Amino acid sequence: MPSTALPTRTQVAIIGAGPAGLLLGQLLHKAGIDAVILEQRSGEYVLGRIRAGVIEQTTVDLLERAGVSARMHAEGLPHDGFELCIDGQRSRIDLHARTGGKRVTVYGQTEITRDLMVARAEEGLTTVYEANNVEVLDFAGDTPRVRFQHQGRNHELRCDFIAGCDGFHGVCRASVPQASLRTFEKVYPFGWLGILADVPPVAHELIYVRHERGFALCSMRSATRSRYYLQCSLDDKVAQWSDQAFWDELKRRVDPAAAAALVTGPSIEKSIAPLRSFVTEPMRFGRLFLAGDAAHIVPPTGAKGLNLAASDVQFLAEALTEHYQEKSAAGLDGYSARALARIWKAERFSWWFTSLMHKFPDNAGFGDRMQQAELDYLLQSEAAQTAMAENYVGLQMVR
Ligand code: FAD
Ligand code: PHB
Repeated sequence: MPSTALPTRTQVAIIGAGPAGLLLGQLLHKAGIDAVILEQRSGEYVLGRIRAGVIEQTTVDLLERAGVSARMHAEGLPHDGFELCIDGQRSRIDLHARTGGKRVTVYGQTEITRDLMVARAEEGLTTVYEANNVEVLDFAGDTPRVRFQHQGRNHELRCDFIAGCDGFHGVCRASVPQASLRTFEKVYPFGWLGILADVPPVAHELIYVRHERGFALCSMRSATRSRYYLQCSLDDKVAQWSDQAFWDELKRRVDPAAAAALVTGPSIEKSIAPLRSFVTEPMRFGRLFLAGDAAHIVPPTGAKGLNLAASDVQFLAEALTEHYQEKSAAGLDGYSARALARIWKAERFSWWFTSLMHKFPDNAGFGDRMQQAELDYLLQSEAAQTAMAENYVGLQMVR
């Protein structure tokens, strides 16, 4: 939209047009609440980031309520289970049987983002892409403001609330005085090298691989597009990894049947993501609310990041709706505690699954034996598999 036409006042200023910001915008619009989204990147850049692939039923339900589920239902792949491949031996975790009929859906974050962008454009709602030098101001008082530059001009947006949906490296959390927040962090000594390729997936379900050479994951986006990951060193650079080197290494880590069945091809995307657990407490500072990766990070092993972003914005949209429609502050006051109760459980599961499946450089001896014992227990115990399945499909939302 041309700079001159930008609004100067809105009810909720949303910073960041990732899944959290876009979904919040859509939920607020459904509730009759006006919001403007400011995003530092272009729309094409946002759509070019390849990230999440697995979504929980609660996220599917929320996307339905937001009116953006048609393509997901047509193209998403329901999965009733996944496989664990431990040192060359595969076992299935039956999500459906162990959770009383629940499942997950494989549908890419890119597609969710695209669906939300299209819905926003169709409704004529304002997203300012390439908004530079965003500053969030005066959120401790009653009249917060956001300053930014767009197409070389300075702008100011007055609002009732600011929603910080600007990811881990965003400006919102960084603008909160240090003394007002507490952070908890664990950085893992490895990363994930991911590739996307237009080849059929090696199996119908995801395969999470534990191997002496490191973790691997066989995932997918559709019947013709695969997403694979390898645990790699934090010092590795994408340029060091040719497609051939990636496929060769993946074949070493999976079981012989998967190695034989693997269809390889040129990568269409290749990137390295570091692994981190991180939580900020609280998630509210006056009239600034954090949601999604702006407030917390999980290592991707548990497939929880996007799902947490979705539950945060569900809670936040409900709280803002209560504020505007019922003149009640209860939802806003309870937002942080309600979101954090869910976040810490997902943090626990993601940390546990990561610790179980990766090769830790400093783990020789006791750590290795603990991992082995935990894996043996999981594969033998129905109770342990039920606990894993319950967490993987997503824990129940509580009020
Ligand atoms: P982001 O997607 O990071 O969006 C934040 C937006 O804010 C960005 O568009 C950014 O450009 C913008 N922004 C940043 N700073 C500013 C600023 N100063 N001003 C304006 N805008 C700004 N999760 C799952 O649930 N399931 C999975 O299977 C899964 N797999 C994953 C695989 C990988 C390899 C990775 C890396 C992540 C995975 N995740 C998964 C996690 C998931 O991708 C993230 O949790 C999700 O993107 C969080 O959404 P968000 O909107 O909070 O943040
Ligand atoms: C993915 O397909 O990108 C994906 C799937 C499951 C995970 C992480 C990433 O746990």
